[in-house]
Amino acid sequence: MKLNLITSIILIIILIASCKSKSPDPSAGIKDVDLIFKGKEIAMNAQAFLGKNLMAAIQSGGTEYAISFCSERAIELTDSVAQVSNAGIRRVSDKNRNPMNKASGSELQYIQDAKKALAASEVINPQLEVIENKTYGYYPILTNDLCIQCHGNKSTDITESTLAELNRLYPEDKATGYGVNELRGIWVVELDKIRK
Ligand code: HEC
Repeated sequence: MKLNLITSIILIIILIASCKSKSPDPSAGIKDVDLIFKGKEIAMNAQAFLGKNLMAAIQSGGTEYAISFCSERAIELTDSVAQVSNAGIRRVSDKNRNPMNKASGSELQYIQDAKKALAASEVINPQLEVIENKTYGYYPILTNDLCIQCHGNKSTDITESTLAELNRLYPEDKATGYGVNELRGIWVVELDKIRK
């Protein structure tokens, strides 16, 4: 009898623990760790591809030209990586420039956690999130020197003509005031097709 009680308590504890766990369906084919890494690879590819195109645009026409280039092509370029990778990819931010890139819900929560980790000089771990049966991977996007000319301080880092172009294209721009090595936003990679 006593043993039965102990067994039941242990079972209940295990049940509660497994209900609380955020991890996606364990019966699915690919392991969560592998999925996180696969998503990271896709996010890094997208980052490299955008970075390469951004550099080329700055070199060929200067910062102002690169802004209109980003404005017209950034989402399209990201989508093309998404197609090749068989995954959905978006860039979102708590201080977004393009209204379409606004972070919400668990994305915002992850951004807040990532900022805390960064402030404490800790590693920012990626995260898997399951929303309405879809699995997403979240990955941090940090600033470097290159970013500051378009995302830095309005009076000291961004030139007047660049600022004018930003104001023209993004009247509700929130994406300025950054220094280097700050969290500019996150990649959100939808991983369902990869899981299957
Ligand atoms: C030439 C100017 C320019 C530079 C340099 C630049 N960006 Fe941006 N960034 C933009 C523009 C313009 C957008 C809006 C793109 C759009 O409309 O989809 C943007 C959007 C973003 C977004 C999507 C979220 C949002 O705010 O809409 C992220 C994340 C981002 N940039 C990160 C970076 C990082 C990191 C760097 C440095 C490696 C960088 N950017 C360098 C101009 C720039």
